[in-house]
Amino acid sequence: MISPETAKIILDQKTYELPIVEGTAGDKAVDISKLRSQTGYITLDEGFANTGSCKSSITYINGEKGILCYRGIPIEVLAENSTFIETAYLIIYGELPTRKQMSAFSQKVLRNASLHEGMMHFFDGGFPFTAHPMAILSSLLNSVGCYYPNMVTNHREQDLEHFDDAAALLLSKVRTIAAMAYRMKNGLPLIYPKRDLGYSQNFLHMMFTEPYHEYYPHDDITKALDLILLLHADHEQNCSTSTVRMVASSGANLFASVSAGVCALWGPLHGGANQQVIQMLEEIYRSGDDGSAFVEAAKQGKRRLMGFGHRLYKTYDPRAKILRAAADKVLKIVKVKDPLLDIAQRLEDMARSDDYFISRNLYPNVDFYSGIILKAIGMPTDMFTVIFAIGRMPGWIAHWREVASQVKGRISRPRQVYVGAPIRDYVKMRYREGEIPSDWESDDHKSLGGGSSENASAKA
Ligand code: SDX
Repeated sequence: MISPETAKIILDQKTYELPIVEGTAGDKAVDISKLRSQTGYITLDEGFANTGSCKSSITYINGEKGILCYRGIPIEVLAENSTFIETAYLIIYGELPTRKQMSAFSQKVLRNASLHEGMMHFFDGGFPFTAHPMAILSSLLNSVGCYYPNMVTNHREQDLEHFDDAAALLLSKVRTIAAMAYRMKNGLPLIYPKRDLGYSQNFLHMMFTEPYHEYYPHDDITKALDLILLLHADHEQNCSTSTVRMVASSGANLFASVSAGVCALWGPLHGGANQQVIQMLEEIYRSGDDGSAFVEAAKQGKRRLMGFGHRLYKTYDPRAKILRAAADKVLKIVKVKDPLLDIAQRLEDMARSDDYFISRNLYPNVDFYSGIILKAIGMPTDMFTVIFAIGRMPGWIAHWREVASQVKGRISRPRQVYVGAPIRDYVKMRYREGEIPSDWESDDHKSLGGGSSENASAKA
C-alpha cells in the first residue's frame, strides 16, 4: 500500500516529502493526511475530482479504460453469469456465495419482504399523491429502522452485530416500499410480496398486479430488470455513496445512512438523470426535430445532453454498452418499436462524431439506455430513480459496513478556504458612519491584529 516513492512539495521555500499510496490495481495517491500539521496548508479540490476520500475494497473503476469491477470481478462477467441478489452478496460480503450461502441469503431476503403492518398507514394518506417516490423512499427507509430498535442504536458494535439482518431487511424492503409507493400514488390496492417469487419477479408482481389479474412478468422482462439492478449495484465513491459514507462516519446507523443516500441520488445530475433522459427524448420527439437542434443547444451550454458524460469515464461507460444491447433485446420481446430508442441512437451517433463531445470525453453513461428499457417494461418515469436506488442498495450497505468496521474510524469533516467578509468589529458593524470616530477600534479587533485606538474603552 505505501509506495517507496514520495511526492515532494515546496511551500514557502521549504521542501516537504509526502508519502505515495498505491492501490491493488496500480492507482496511486499522494497521502496528504499530515499536510496541514506539517505545512499549515490544506488542498482545495471543488467537486473532489482529484481527491480520494478513503481506501476501499469494494469496487474498482478505471475511467480511462472503461473498466468496472465489483470485488475484482468485471461487470461484463457478472452481467453475463450472475443475478442481482448473487452480486449483492458479492458486494456486501466480498466473495461470491457458495450454493448453501446463496440459498440461506435468498431465503433471508425473501423472509424480510413484507413491511411491519404498523407502516401501512404511511400508504393511507401518509403522503400526497403528488409526492415523488424518492421522497417517500428516503422517508420510509429511515422509518423502517424504527421497528428494529436493536439495529439503529448508533452504537457501532451493536449495529454491526445486527448487520446481516439489517442488510437483508433493507435489500428486501426497499423493493416493497418502492412498489407500495407506486401503488399508493396511483390509487391502486397494495400488493404483498409472494414467498415463491424471485427478487425482481416479486417486485414486478407487486408493481403491476391488477385487482383481478395477478401479474407474473415474462422471464426476459424479469431478467432485464435484474440486469439493470445488477449494473447499478455499486460505483465506488459517487455522490450518493459518498453521502452514505459521510453519514456513517458520524456513527449513524445503516438505515439513516442509506436514507441520506436516496436523497443524494435523487438529484438530476446523478441518479435523477435516467428520468431526465426520457423526458429529453420525449421533448425531442414532440418537437419533430431529429435531435440535432438539441445537440446544438447542448454545445452552446443551453441544455445538457442527459445520460451523457461522466466524472470518471472518459470512454464508454461499460454499463451503457451492456444496456444498449439489452434495450434492443427487450424492445424485440415486448414487440415495441420505440421511437425514443431511434432518437437515442441518433443522438449518440451525432455526439460520437462531434468535436464538442469528443474533446470533452462525453459518452453515454449508465442512465442513457436504462430509461429506454424501463419504459419498455412499463415502468413510469418517476420510478426510474427509485429503480436506481434499489439497485444501489447493496453498494450503500457495503460501504456503510466498510466505514463502521474501521477500528480507528474518524468522522468525515473536510476543511475549506474562507472567502467571506473580512474579520470585523461587531460594534463597528452596528453603528453607521459618524456615530463613532472612524478610527475607533474595539479591544477584540486589536487582539485580531487590528489598529489600536486610545479611546477604545470609551465606547466598549
Ligand atoms: C451517474 O459518479 C458516479 O459514479 C455516478 C453514477 C453512479 O453509478 O453512481 O455513474 C451515476 O450519476 C451518471 C451521470 C448521470 N448524469 C447525467 O447524465 C447528467 C448529464 N451529465 C453531466 O451533467 C455531467 O457530465 C456529469 C454530472 C455526469 C459529470 O459532471 P462533471 O464531471 O462535473 O463535468 P463538468 O460538468 O465539469 O463538464 C465538463 C465539460 C463542461 O463543458 P466546459 O465547461 O468544459 O465547456 O463538459 C460539459 C460541461 O458543460 N458537459 C456536458 C455534459 N456533461 C458535461 N455538456 C453537455 N451535455 C452533458 N451531458
